[in-house]
Amino acid sequence: MSNTVGMATQLAGQTLRFGFYYGLNRLTSWRTDQLGQASRYQPSRPVPSLQELLADHAQLLLSDALAVRDGLYPPMEDEAGAPLGHLFRVRQMLADLPGALSRRATADASTAKAEPAATGVPDYYAQDFHFQTGGYLSEGSARLYDVQVETLFMGAAAPMRRTALTPIAEFMRGRDQRTVTLVDVACGTGRFLRQVRLAYPAMSLKGVDLSQAYLEETRKHMRGLRGAELIEAAAEAMPIADASADIVTSIFLYHELPPEVRRQVTGEIARVLKPGGLFVFVDSLQMGDKPGWDGLLEGFPHRFHEPYYRSYAIDDLEAMFADAGLAPQSTSTHYLAKLMVRHKA
Ligand SMILES: C[S@@+](CC[C@H](N)C(=O)[O-])C[C@H]1O[C@@H](n2cnc3c(N)ncnc32)[C@H](O)[C@@H]1O
Repeated sequence: MSNTVGMATQLAGQTLRFGFYYGLNRLTSWRTDQLGQASRYQPSRPVPSLQELLADHAQLLLSDALAVRDGLYPPMEDEAGAPLGHLFRVRQMLADLPGALSRRATADASTAKAEPAATGVPDYYAQDFHFQTGGYLSEGSARLYDVQVETLFMGAAAPMRRTALTPIAEFMRGRDQRTVTLVDVACGTGRFLRQVRLAYPAMSLKGVDLSQAYLEETRKHMRGLRGAELIEAAAEAMPIADASADIVTSIFLYHELPPEVRRQVTGEIARVLKPGGLFVFVDSLQMGDKPGWDGLLEGFPHRFHEPYYRSYAIDDLEAMFADAGLAPQSTSTHYLAKLMVRHKA
């Protein structure tokens, strides 16, 4: 039965959310200009107009609402928790902006290395990704991550993650969720695990991430819901048994990995998946996915500390997945995200 009330609720909620983050996006741009820190980099490749970006953004929100209408997942509120707490995070993000921008001006991505949690993590990881204070290794960064990312994407991060729920819904048809295990690799602050939990209250969920602070944030986001098993570990050496997962997801991880680690992680994903299991990948567009947008991808690592993004943007993901035994099912783009669905033969 089609859920038209749910569809309307989802569309209205997401449109309001877009308005909120669009306003924050403009505010941070204005503040960046005011601090004299606007990026002067001019991409050589084409960039989309604001109208093109907004048209694709609107299409994403429409598809999200239609998925709710079609019963693929229930309507979802993305900002769990008290609104005042959320506004407090917005204030903290604005207060953190001058520090992050001055690190960008001096190409300094070293605050993560000074965190106590940096001991024992790989060197490629102990950097200030996005010029976030503390990289992924501080509580403050974990607290601000979602509001920073949603501000950058004008509220699209949550609906881009949710595109992964559609192939999962197709995979789940005829399956009993109580018998299904899903592993979210690099679960970060748990936004996607929460979405999965809202759609599948009885599924067994595991989240893997190298950041204890981000896993702690996941715990908070899952409050009031059945939890997930959270594992502090590297994605390239997951303490998870061979062929034990029905579904593995990886969202916005690969662009932050060196090329050789991408391949190790892919091998690990294939190892933990059961034969016939589902791999759902969501990450940034790559060069050529939307040729008129290539300039955005070119400019991204000039605005944010993303040391492996350039290599990601031209990496051959098709071949990488195929080499690991992950056979193609579908590939599609959704606003700034690329969704790749694979199954283990
Ligand atoms: C851009 S965030 C994406 C987080 C989350 N999946 C999301 O949708 O927001 C990247 C995440 O990958 C984690 N990460 C990066 N390299 C990792 C690795 N080698 N093993 C495990 N986690 C890693 C970081 O700690 C961070 O939480």
